Amino acid sequence: METIGLAIDTTFDDTSVAILRGKREVLSNQTLSQYADHAEFGGVVPERASRRHLEVIHPLMDRALAEAGVEYRDLGWVAVSNLPGLLGSILVGVTVAKSLAYLLRRPLIGVNHIEAHPYANFLVHGELPFPLLHLVAAGGHTLLIHQEGHFRWRVVGRSVDDAAGECVDKVAKMFGHPMPGGPVVDRLAMAHAPAPCGFPRPMLKDPGLNFSFSGLKTAVLYYLKGQKGEVEEGPVLAAFFEAITDVLTVKTLRAAQRLGVAAVTVSGGLAASKKLRAAFEAACGEAGVKLFYPPPALCTDNAAMVGCLAAYRFEAGLTDDLSLDAQANLIG
Ligand code: KG4
Ligand code: ZN
Repeated sequence: METIGLAIDTTFDDTSVAILRGKREVLSNQTLSQYADHAEFGGVVPERASRRHLEVIHPLMDRALAEAGVEYRDLGWVAVSNLPGLLGSILVGVTVAKSLAYLLRRPLIGVNHIEAHPYANFLVHGELPFPLLHLVAAGGHTLLIHQEGHFRWRVVGRSVDDAAGECVDKVAKMFGHPMPGGPVVDRLAMAHAPAPCGFPRPMLKDPGLNFSFSGLKTAVLYYLKGQKGEVEEGPVLAAFFEAITDVLTVKTLRAAQRLGVAAVTVSGGLAASKKLRAAFEAACGEAGVKLFYPPPALCTDNAAMVGCLAAYRFEAGLTDDLSLDAQANLIG
């Protein structure tokens, strides 16, 4: 009988609890988004986010246990994302997980939220062939990760300023769309041909593997300021999103080629984009590289991906003690 475990993610503005049996059987995956709580401020307010996590974490755990038909005593491990993200938010999850592990006398497993994003692919596609190159394109991070085996990974490229998702959200905001802007930009980009706006493809000519997206955001702002009459939103956003997808696909495939990797995964909220998926299908097909991405609900933040990685760690004996700490940064 495979071990049942409970995973918690409170790294940013989503509270999520999942219950897994073994590495892949998701018995429950409950996520509460806080977008509505922060809407009036135009962005996530850290203090508000941690308070909200605190209010909803216990009811959410109860709901997940009920849906899974599992009781606390059935749990074999307790996992939590302890980095990176908003410190006050992570602390809520870490404190709850530690208390639970202590009370139940079960192993505690700390998980890196960024390392967990690609595990949404292991969750639904099974074992994937190493070495792998992962593009993690989330709201707060745009990272290229080279993974040679479970727990053996390193960041080989990152955004030096805004994450791609953050850039998409900010540009959507210029057009009056609330957070998260990605879904509406994606819908418009699918429905319209890109206008000839001449938007830049930042750092594409740079041979390195890093990204930069803040200049693209500024280019859209100046383009809008320079327009006299009515701006056609759909075609302009399609042109903007084309610049995003071009940069992400070209850099990812460049990294795969340079590292001799034959399989690529895409995860993080932006990977829910139909347009981005289509661009990756085309680019990977042309390059003869295998492509994996999770269903949209497992692209955005969720505790199921955290639970999947935690189950691998549990199997390998990689557990933590109660000194596990919350950490805001990915490295250092
Ligand atoms: O992974 P995620 O939920 O949060 C972080 O860990 O940061 O990613 C959120 C990002 C936001 O920028 C949001 O606009 C974008 O993912 N996003 C999408 C879609 N769903 C969420 N972008 C394009 N198409 C979508 N369907
Ligand atoms: Zn995330």
